[in-house]
Amino acid sequence: MTTVSHFDNDSLYSTFARAPVAFERGEGVWLYTADGEAYLDAMAGVAVTSVGHAHPHVVEALKKQGEKLWHVSNWFEIPEQAAMAKRLTDATFADKVFFCNSGAEALECAIKTARRYHYVNGNPERIDIITFEGAFHGRTIATIAAGGQAKYLEGFGPKAPASCRCRSATARR
Ligand SMILES: Cc1ncc(COP(=O)(O)O)c(C=O)c1O
Repeated sequence: MTTVSHFDNDSLYSTFARAPVAFERGEGVWLYTADGEAYLDAMAGVAVTSVGHAHPHVVEALKKQGEKLWHVSNWFEIPEQAAMAKRLTDATFADKVFFCNSGAEALECAIKTARRYHYVNGNPERIDIITFEGAFHGRTIATIAAGGQAKYLEGFGPKAPASCRCRSATARR
């Protein structure tokens, strides 16, 4: 394994316990270090690099867009965003899409969608979120409460209310 101890990580928050390896490029399911060591990417960027690394179609779309227009806010119409949402709803169970930037944001959206559903249906008291003991759902105030792990909750003030924890079948054994 390539060590990266010569990299200066001092300016980064020490949030993550990083493995001492850095990747220079990826191709499909493979990751490569600068000195050419290949690793099978069984993590896929924590389950989000679903079409693999450097997929030619995605690279082409990113290049085209990068040369045209970068970020505009959701206060404007974004035809490509609408087209992508249509592709997703046509291909899945979903009726609507909410695009966001991280897992924690997706979880926040799920929590808010569930609570809002009950609110508009006359049950505003139905706010409880059920998760499994030892779960991890991100690092926002709501998702550290949902995950319930002491090490993530410590030092961030009172825990957000209304998370219930279940023991998983494996935890019971
Ligand atoms: C199950 C699960 N939920 C939520 C998250 C949070 O994702 P992000 O780090 O993109 O906010 C992660 C990240 O590892 C995760 O594994």
